[in-house]
Amino acid sequence: MYTESIVLTEKNKLKIVDQTLLPGQLKYIKINGLEDSIEAIKKLKIRGAPAIGVMAAYTLYIIANNLKSFSRNRFFEELKFAGIELKNSRPTAVNLEWAIERINQVISDNPNKIQSDIAKLLRKEALEIHSEDRDSCHQIGINGLEIVPEKANIVTHCNTGSLATGGWGTALGIIYAAAEKNISLHVYVNETRPLGQGARLTFWELNQAGIPCTLIADSMAASLMAESKINLVLFGADRIAKNGDVANKIGSYNLAVAANYHKIPCYSAAPVSTFDFDMNCGSDIPIEKREPDEILDIYNYKKGNSDLDVYNPAFDITPAELLSGIITEKGIIKQPLKINISKLINHN
Ligand code: MRU
Repeated sequence: MYTESIVLTEKNKLKIVDQTLLPGQLKYIKINGLEDSIEAIKKLKIRGAPAIGVMAAYTLYIIANNLKSFSRNRFFEELKFAGIELKNSRPTAVNLEWAIERINQVISDNPNKIQSDIAKLLRKEALEIHSEDRDSCHQIGINGLEIVPEKANIVTHCNTGSLATGGWGTALGIIYAAAEKNISLHVYVNETRPLGQGARLTFWELNQAGIPCTLIADSMAASLMAESKINLVLFGADRIAKNGDVANKIGSYNLAVAANYHKIPCYSAAPVSTFDFDMNCGSDIPIEKREPDEILDIYNYKKGNSDLDVYNPAFDITPAELLSGIITEKGIIKQPLKINISKLINHN
């Protein structure tokens, strides 16, 4: 069993694990509407590409449910506004807009339904988005077993587990699937500066699951590779361009460069909802820039000091040629990625 990051209760209340409190405290908080949801997404109380997609879908349902006795104009206007605000809350993970589009499609497919019926349809769609992600994660885990070596020493980055998705995770899902098969494995967890998703969340998740793991600082992975202590690199994705370039947590690119130098297989794992065929290549993908304080806080600088020059992009691009493949719920996409992505995704 894993920790569910997002829960819609039987009474239709939305609850999430506040991930900013981990590993100190596992606490669910209530999301009452748009304001709470946007705050939770922006402050990374909920994070991870698939999880914020699921969160956006449930938020739109909650808003519809809260407004079902209001006038049609107000109901539709507020839902439209909420969709735009949610989409703008984090720019890189495409799963967010993908999920919002699915909800918008239900609204536009049902122009004559009354508000309470639309709210019910949105509930159904949000639950489906959640359960499809759960299934995708499970299948990614199973599909990924093919590339896990017998004695696996894996380095992973950021958090791609149950906290980041609607299921048991993507890259971490593969690790959970391997552990279920009793494959001997050890996971090196990159700390993931500046916000420590590896140290706070992945290290916590793996220890909860009883999977052997070691926490390392981001700068250590290359030297472990040089000492032959790593035989697989696995990370997730926030958006994948048509040519196979992968946007993921800042530092993923470093791992891929080091893995290639040491001739270690390097894979990204993601559901098909993370592919964006409107992006020809990585440089088309919008990269979120976050507040300087996220770095300055680590070193106890005074908050809000605008005189200091800080660069804090949340994601980087791993060029397709540095990846051995991309593991999806539909199968493993191998090189050449540009050709095989469209074959696998369009032909299923
Ligand atoms: O800023 P975050 O914590 O939302 O970044 C998350 C990542 O980069 C994950 O690797 C990615 O979203 C995949 S989660 C399955």
